[in-house]
Amino acid sequence: MGSNNFSRRDFMKATSATAVGLGLGLGSLVEAAPAKKRSKSANDKVVFGLIGCGGMGASNMRNFMGYEDVEVAALCDVDKNRMPNDIKDVTNKYGREPKIYDDYRKMLENKDIDAIIVGSPDHWHALNLIHACEAGKDVYCEKPISHNIVEAKAMVGAKRHFKRVVQVGTWQRSTREFHNAIEYIRAGKLGKIVHCRAWISDATRLGKKAPIAVPDGFNYDMWVGPAAMRLYQENITHWNWRWINNTGGGLTTDWGVHMMDIALLGMSKGLDLPMPNRVMSSGGLWTIKDDDRDAPDTIESILNFGDPDFAMTWSVLRDHPGKPGHCTEFVSADGRTLRVWRGGWEIVDGDGKQLPKENADPQESGHWENFLDCVKSRQAPRADLDSVAQTTMVCHLVNASLQAGEMVRWDKAKMDIVGKAGKNTMAYSRNYRKGYKLPIYK
Ligand SMILES: NC(=O)c1ccc[n+]([C@@H]2O[C@H](COP(=O)([O-])OP(=O)(O)OC[C@H]3O[C@@H](n4cnc5c(N)ncnc54)[C@H](O)[C@@H]3O)[C@@H](O)[C@H]2O)c1
Repeated sequence: MGSNNFSRRDFMKATSATAVGLGLGLGSLVEAAPAKKRSKSANDKVVFGLIGCGGMGASNMRNFMGYEDVEVAALCDVDKNRMPNDIKDVTNKYGREPKIYDDYRKMLENKDIDAIIVGSPDHWHALNLIHACEAGKDVYCEKPISHNIVEAKAMVGAKRHFKRVVQVGTWQRSTREFHNAIEYIRAGKLGKIVHCRAWISDATRLGKKAPIAVPDGFNYDMWVGPAAMRLYQENITHWNWRWINNTGGGLTTDWGVHMMDIALLGMSKGLDLPMPNRVMSSGGLWTIKDDDRDAPDTIESILNFGDPDFAMTWSVLRDHPGKPGHCTEFVSADGRTLRVWRGGWEIVDGDGKQLPKENADPQESGHWENFLDCVKSRQAPRADLDSVAQTTMVCHLVNASLQAGEMVRWDKAKMDIVGKAGKNTMAYSRNYRKGYKLPIYK
């Protein structure tokens, strides 16, 4: 399906991806089977370029490379030191080297590429994705979709404007235990849900490091991109950026987007999620001292929903004795609790006694395969950008309330904060560094 072989314009004329899948349930959630022969002909191939050859970008690329109707044509990273393994694997797989870029905008000019994997840190997602949409590419974008709310809205606007297919990397939407839990709640088998709880444990230390010279081969200026420039320290860049507010949002955006996503999906009928009308957060960097991280290690946030009525709490905390380190729980009016985590789910009564549960038997495609299918069908994928934008904005609202030190209100129809509280925070918006501009599509 390289653009030499297949007319993307034909797709665009035929369908719009925006509406088709929004009413979908999650009826086809399960990991891909390893037999990945899907392609009928070489002309049907989806040709990928990868932005960000780090942990998750490369992992997504390898997942896609398992399918016969995929080809990886190009790799881009601002740090050359991160690329050798990926170059080697692509070369071994396809018998030729990928094209190598250090500027993703140049890669987006490559007409052979159909789809982009955005595997950069969160502070780059908005520009990477919007520019990819402008270039007519479909996108597999890592979560959380953005660094802040204004970026998230611009990304949804661009996706709709250019009629692109965008799957977000919230792969829990495609796994058996979460599928079972969501289906159980949606079918009303736990009764009326009045409360959801989600949490993640966090005791990460980045240590304290002095600024040093930037390593050879690393374009640190481009790595910082639209964020605020600061002197290079080894412990604020690769992987660690998520605990730095300038480039991430702490574990509320990193893990909240996974765990609160499941709560919101259980409380919805499809991909359009309930949004809180009020969010109040408390917390701070209270347990980890003498460290370069600035994202809070302790958060308790209460979110109030009106349609349907329920309360949700989101916690970042040191420990949760006797429970998994990450989890989503649904609490029913009659006191039963459904608990789901990576690897299992259970239903317990008020005394903690296990109750019977039923497994649905999902049999269809996995997360990466679902994206490939949707690139071809132009339907909205299971983790469509519009849907995960909602979860991402919930995470940002938690941080906005914490950063503002006051309750934040949200208007779902306007997709915006009501009034001023929370608007003057990094979780709401940021001034881009000189030379960078966020394109706004409404
Ligand atoms: N879905 C999941 O379960 C999951 C798991 C881990 C990470 N993630 C997400 O994946 C993304 C990447 O996380 P990671 O842990 O792999 O980070 P990482 O720091 O290991 O890798 C990011 C890579 O992007 C590169 N990069 C930065 N700016 C770039 C630019 N402008 N152009 C090209 N390359 C650029 C960096 O040099 C680095 O190699 C994040 O959004 C993260 O939240 C998702």
